[in-house]
Formats: sequence, structure tokens, C-alpha cells
Amino acid sequence: MQNSIVDIEKEAFQSIEQAQDSDQLEQLSIEYLGRKGVLTKFLRNISSLPENERPGAGKNANILKGKLERAFKSAFSKIEAATDIDFTGIDVTLPGRPAHIGSLHPVTQVTKEVCDIFLRLGFDIAEGPEVETDYYNFEALNIPKYHPARDMQDTFYVSENIVLRTHTSPSQPRVMEKTKPPVRIIAPGKVFRCDSDITHTPMFHQVEGLMVDENISFGDLKGILTTFVHQFFDKETSLRFRPSFFPFTEPSAEVDIRCVMCKGEGCRICSKTGWLEVLGSGMVHPAVFENVGYDTDKYTGFAFGVGIERLAMLKYGIDDIRKFFENDIRFLRQF
Ligand code: PHE
Repeated sequence: MQNSIVDIEKEAFQSIEQAQDSDQLEQLSIEYLGRKGVLTKFLRNISSLPENERPGAGKNANILKGKLERAFKSAFSKIEAATDIDFTGIDVTLPGRPAHIGSLHPVTQVTKEVCDIFLRLGFDIAEGPEVETDYYNFEALNIPKYHPARDMQDTFYVSENIVLRTHTSPSQPRVMEKTKPPVRIIAPGKVFRCDSDITHTPMFHQVEGLMVDENISFGDLKGILTTFVHQFFDKETSLRFRPSFFPFTEPSAEVDIRCVMCKGEGCRICSKTGWLEVLGSGMVHPAVFENVGYDTDKYTGFAFGVGIERLAMLKYGIDDIRKFFENDIRFLRQF
């Protein structure tokens, strides 16, 4: 009987080694370890052995059982690893899965749209740094240190004199320092403020506009901005210029448009006023011209700054500015 356990072992290991695929292995494992397998039968027959042989035979058979189980396991994983890809169940004639094509972010789309309108009106595109000096962000724009107007534009300080720009307006003195009039530029980009709620994010986008030449009047400002609003929204959208204050423009005006949601009836979006504020503007302050060395007797100009997210929210009826920056694909896919 002892011999026959040794024979079973020898035979089993030989067969395992020769097995070509997992089907053959499966077959072998049934042959040896299955309910009617060789080893199972052997264990069942132990009771027919002479009493003194039973314990030894049982022990050996159980040891072999463990050995075989381990051998089958490792043989199975060897065969699996050798079979690179299992093509069973794959229909290679099926059409492939389409790749998802992304789209431009709504902020990028609206920025482009705004730029296109002004490019058609003869403006060039300028750019300025997002990390800006205190000088260009404030001083050159007639906002001295400790001026209360700095309060509305609190920002992130990199150091005492370096800030994350709070508006795109620093591109005004930057461009004017480098070029002589006539100037006709727009400057799109990121701006930063210590603000966060459903209508404010710490980072957002603006497009700055600047036009300087001889004989530029408030009429030009009105004409250009009216054309812009009519092209961006539609010709039926009326505008209202409301007196305002910016240290770098005089006079200054905030521009409202007839509420795009209720057409002026008064609703939640326009706080029942029928009007929506869309941009800040005004005639360039002589102090700004002096800072860049422009002749204030000869030249006049206008500037404006428009918030991109605000335009996008009004155009597409988006009620929470934070949606732009959550990167939820279900939101972004709609544009
Ligand atoms: N920079 C101003 C702001 O961000 C907007 C503005 C730009 C106003 C140009 C007047 C002229 O609030």
C-alpha cells in the first residue's frame, strides 16, 4: 500500500508536467482529487487495510493530497500567464468604442467669442502677467497705497510689492508704456481676488479694452460697447450707462444690459430691477496718461473691463459661477 502512494505521486506529477492547457489540467485534477479520483478512492479504502498500516497510509495520502493541490494551483497559473490574451468571447469584428472628443471650456469659448468681436472692430490682442507688481496693478492706475479703492480688490500677496493681479487693467499702462497712440487693444486673462460665493471665485477671467487717440470721446465708448453687446447677445438687448467710480477712469460708468432672462420684467436673476451689470468702463484718467508719459492735452481714450464668467452665465443661463471650475464632465459636455 505504501508503494502505491509513491506510484500515485510519481504518475500524478508526471502528468501535471505534461499537461498542455488548462482543460487538460482540469481533467487531471478531477482524475486525482475529484470525488471519484484516484487519491479519494485510496483514502476511502484505508479502512480495508490491516489496522497497523492505516495511520501511516492515511497520513501519507493526506500529505500527497496537499502536495497535489499546490502543484495544480501553480500549474494553472503558469499556463494562464503563458496565454497572453484570452480571445475567447471577444468578437474582433465588432466596431471599436468611439474615443471621447473633448471640447473647449466654456470660459475659453466665451473669451474667444469676445476677442473675435473686438478683432473685427480693429482691436489687437495684448497680454500681461498674472503675477503682477503692485505698481502696475495699483499705483500706475492711480490707486495709491492706503486708497480705499484697494479694499474692493484685496488679493493674494506674493510679497509686499508683488500681487496676483486683481483685474486686467494693469495691461493698460503696460501697453501704453511700450506704444505711442493710436492704441486699440484688448487684453484677456485670469484675475484673482479674495472672494468666494455663488457669484465670485478667487480666480476668474476678464477682458480689458483700451482705445487711445486724438479726439476719442465718450460717444466712441458707447458706440463700441453697444456694438459689442449687440453682437454678443442680440440686437434687441438695450444698454444703460450708470455713473460709477474707478480711480483710473473719469468719468466712469458701469454698463447694465436689459435682463436676458426676463427681458426687463424683473426676476430673481436681476433682483427685480430688469437690469444686469456686465462691465466697468470710463474715460482714461489723465493721471494714468501722465504715468506712462502720454500728452494729456493731445490724447484721450476709453477703457473697459468685462467679466468672462459673468457673460457666460448670462448667455447660457448658469446660476452658479463655481460650476465653471468643478470640472464636472456632465456640465462641460453641454458646451
Ligand atoms: N478693472 C475694473 C474692475 O475690475 C473694470 C474697469 C476696467 C473699469 C477699465 C474701468 C475701466 O472692476
